[in-house]
Amino acid sequence: MSYSYSSAYDAVTNGIENGKHEVEKNARISAKQSLISSHLQNYSPASNLAFNQRIKKMMASGETVYHFGFGQSPFPVIECAVKALQESAHEKDYLPVQGIPELRQTICDFHSRFDGTSLKQENVIVGPGSKELIYLLMLVFNGDILVVSPTWTTYRPQSHLSRHRSFVINTSLDGQWKISSSAIEKVFEQNDCHPNRLLILCNPCNPSGTAYSADELRELADCFRKNNIYVIADEIYGFMNYDGTHESLVKYYPEGSILSSSLSKWAGAGGWRLGYHIFPDELNELKNAVISAGTHTFSCAPSPMQYAALKVMKDIPQCEEYMKHTTRIMAVIADFCYRELTSVGVKVVKPRGGFYMLPDFEIIRPNLTRRGISTGKEMCQAILRECSVALMAGGPAFLRPSTELTVRLCFVNFDGALALKASRDIGLDVNLDDQFIQTYCQVTYDGIKALVKWVVECN
Ligand SMILES: Cc1ncc(COP(=O)(O)O)c(C=O)c1O
Repeated sequence: MSYSYSSAYDAVTNGIENGKHEVEKNARISAKQSLISSHLQNYSPASNLAFNQRIKKMMASGETVYHFGFGQSPFPVIECAVKALQESAHEKDYLPVQGIPELRQTICDFHSRFDGTSLKQENVIVGPGSKELIYLLMLVFNGDILVVSPTWTTYRPQSHLSRHRSFVINTSLDGQWKISSSAIEKVFEQNDCHPNRLLILCNPCNPSGTAYSADELRELADCFRKNNIYVIADEIYGFMNYDGTHESLVKYYPEGSILSSSLSKWAGAGGWRLGYHIFPDELNELKNAVISAGTHTFSCAPSPMQYAALKVMKDIPQCEEYMKHTTRIMAVIADFCYRELTSVGVKVVKPRGGFYMLPDFEIIRPNLTRRGISTGKEMCQAILRECSVALMAGGPAFLRPSTELTVRLCFVNFDGALALKASRDIGLDVNLDDQFIQTYCQVTYDGIKALVKWVVECN
């Protein structure tokens, strides 16, 4: 065996080095350092996804559960999308980080056709879902984040993840869960906010279903201008406005709004992961920073989805036909849920678009108090136990007080393929009614009836 001086030296020095490393390693272990960044201690997964998994497990084990706790489109993906995706399956190259120019132009045309907006393809960023783009936008933004209560469950955790301070703008059920200039300005009076502010306005709103009128957006735009507020206009449910009269903030505050949308809701394609943001010229600096962040994270939205989305969004007649049927089904169910709940004293704002409402069960508080129930979460546990209805409590996930008896009710637990076919067979000239829901959306119908019965028995 040859044994050189240098290898002997290496052996000795490595021994010393290893000994030193060992000491350092032991010191590190004994200090029991967390592997998670300190600002993310107590961080938890998306509450809606975790809740959905729990309920699905119960259903898989054979339990009957009326699941009103998760909000994905009940409908099959728009038909022309399936063929378009099959035809695009061979697309395998990395694409420009902003997305293919033809798709970006088509997205602008689509919004111009349905929302009356005037947008430029060079200002579009296509990404793997709008959730990712909202996060990257927050990540590069220098300033404070403003979130609305009640909120979609992801905005606040994303502001936290991206190490931003966030401030909450309060709303009330009596005010239709809408923000006002005075509620916004109150935040600035009470806090020493950064001069740059990024507000996220979900319209139509998840979780309340509320939607803003042109006059309300005009008034808000004045307040945004006055207070140096940029807005992520999250209008992912815009094409699901029940009477087809969605008002986009972009029309009233073009210079400060970043339009956020995707195929996930209106086209029933959440799993496709295809979303986009559209910036105004004035926010070029911000757009370029997000593009740069995109190059270092997602690279590009999936190529087959981009080519397929291009074909889908060019086919306006098919999109329009699909949207008309799906939104009128959602509208008639929203109306049914609203009537049923309000008939027993539950307060709720009637949704104007999307999949959700946020009823408040305050009417039964005296009874719940006698039973030792004081929070929305405890109430939802009782509802699940006693009438098999799964609801997510309002509470902290939605930036509501934990003692408030609001719940997010997602009225999408029906067979969307069956309902869509029935709606088409009936034809757009004939209105849908409760009989339609009872026949084609039976789980939703039975679940609401069970919930209403539970409320009555509570009182
Ligand atoms: C209000 C709102 N914004 C954004 C998203 C993100 O959608 P996606 O990432 O699928 O585009 C969702 C999805 O649930 C949502 O409800």
